[in-house]
Amino acid sequence: MLAGTLQAAAQNPVASNELPHLQKNGNVTQLIVDGKPFLVLGGEVRNSASSSVEYMKPIWPKLAAAHLNTVLVPVTWQQIEPEEGHFDFSVLDALIRDARGNNLRLVLLWFGSWKNGVSTYTPAWVEKDSARFPLVQNSSGQLLGVLSTFSDSNREADARAFATLLRHLREVDSAQHTVVFLQVENEVGVISDSRDHCTAADKAFAQPVPKELMDYLAEHRDTLLPEFRKIWEDAGAKTSGTWQQIFGIGPATDEIFMAWNYARYINFVAGAGKAELPLPMFINTALVKPQDKLPGDYPSGGAVAQVHDVWQSAAPNIDILAPDIYFTDFPGLLGRYSRNGNPPWVPESLAGPGGAANAFYAVGFGSIGYSAYAIEDQDDPSGPIAEAFGFLSDITPMILEHQASGTIAGVWLTTDRPTQDVTLAGYTLHFALRVTRKSTVLPDRGYGLVFSSGPDEFIVAGTDIQVTFTPSTPGPSVVGLSKVEEGTFLQGKWVAGRWLNGDDTQLLYDLSALASQSLSGEGVSFPAGDPTIRRVQLYRYP
Ligand code: DGJ
Repeated sequence: MLAGTLQAAAQNPVASNELPHLQKNGNVTQLIVDGKPFLVLGGEVRNSASSSVEYMKPIWPKLAAAHLNTVLVPVTWQQIEPEEGHFDFSVLDALIRDARGNNLRLVLLWFGSWKNGVSTYTPAWVEKDSARFPLVQNSSGQLLGVLSTFSDSNREADARAFATLLRHLREVDSAQHTVVFLQVENEVGVISDSRDHCTAADKAFAQPVPKELMDYLAEHRDTLLPEFRKIWEDAGAKTSGTWQQIFGIGPATDEIFMAWNYARYINFVAGAGKAELPLPMFINTALVKPQDKLPGDYPSGGAVAQVHDVWQSAAPNIDILAPDIYFTDFPGLLGRYSRNGNPPWVPESLAGPGGAANAFYAVGFGSIGYSAYAIEDQDDPSGPIAEAFGFLSDITPMILEHQASGTIAGVWLTTDRPTQDVTLAGYTLHFALRVTRKSTVLPDRGYGLVFSSGPDEFIVAGTDIQVTFTPSTPGPSVVGLSKVEEGTFLQGKWVAGRWLNGDDTQLLYDLSALASQSLSGEGVSFPAGDPTIRRVQLYRYP
């Protein structure tokens, strides 16, 4: 049947330049929709929401009013293929219709073989036949409710369903592109053991590491991520051998082995889908939490940072390895998920004030966009994530343009990370949590965005931050503010309001002490509440 699907795709090609696709634009990779870069300001609904058209009905307008342009919705194997070979797309079609009615795009989350490591979204005809659709076995020989990656029938059944989904999208959405990209499976990996121990898995584990992975190691030796290269080099950097000979004996090797096998399986599923409709595809990753000690405490084989090379080598059909809900250090997380050409994209993170901060940081970091999980819970239409998305949607063209030219940065501060320096266009901008004359108590968080908008000029936006400037190029050493305007962008044009000066910009008055450190004491601050924006013109003096 898969061969038939592939043939049908070849006979009915869709010009891929008309489809949503990823494109390298200058410094970043952007999502192109209807011929133009598109910044995802999104939200993911809870797992069960999109199984019911009626349940979703009141949610769509709420999300549109909260300035989202995209909604991430699960599409489940059990719902679209309740009987083997019989597909029902009525719910999906209604979701597409209602998204269109609210001027929203969709990202579909394929809950196929796995969701959060387990196989609870598989159809009953799969669940009831573990002889035909084998399960993971733990080291004590018990079967877990998790489809094994070491089974052609599992992989092919999932790929057939996914390919049929994409073929359906080709039929119903090729003209309108409501669906802009897809997530393949959800947070995969073996939980509560570091690897699958079924007979086929044990057999594969005793075999040599596949040539494709060995060739990748040899070709990418200089650019392998350091934590992965270390595992290989600590085991002697051998060029052939079994998994344990190449990577050593221990759970890290089990994790690498599982990463390879999940990635190959998912690559096959994604490839079958792309043969029908080549939309961009990503996977999401359950992250290592502070309490996790070993792979298996978190899903073993998912695309955590130390196995990105394995995923990139095994799954070329997956365009992006994305992280999930973050726990502490969002900038560090985006840093780890943007190495080796992996485009930053945040499908599932916080809403609330932390979400607003993450969204600002993400788009300034060059992300394809930002999406908050459990978005339907955000009942306040003027809550922080809605305000942040409203603000970002007003300046989206500017964000996309500056992402491409590398003239934008995000600012993300908390009491644990109270300062951040950004070097841009000849200046270092020293961001800090905002202090006021009246109180020395720092706010819990501050966030912002900065654009270099011309020679000696920046547009800065933010909440609860302040910024001072020093030069990053040779020449006069002190930076003064020659003009600071508050204002807004209306249809891309700057509309100035007050000129800020005096008490609003002279942060410190100890001029002699400041002069001895080549500082002017001038700076710009951004109050609490909804983000505000200022245009800042600078000059330098010796
Ligand atoms: C991450 C998963 O990907 C989501 O589907 C959901 O289960 C959340 N965790 C719950 O926090």
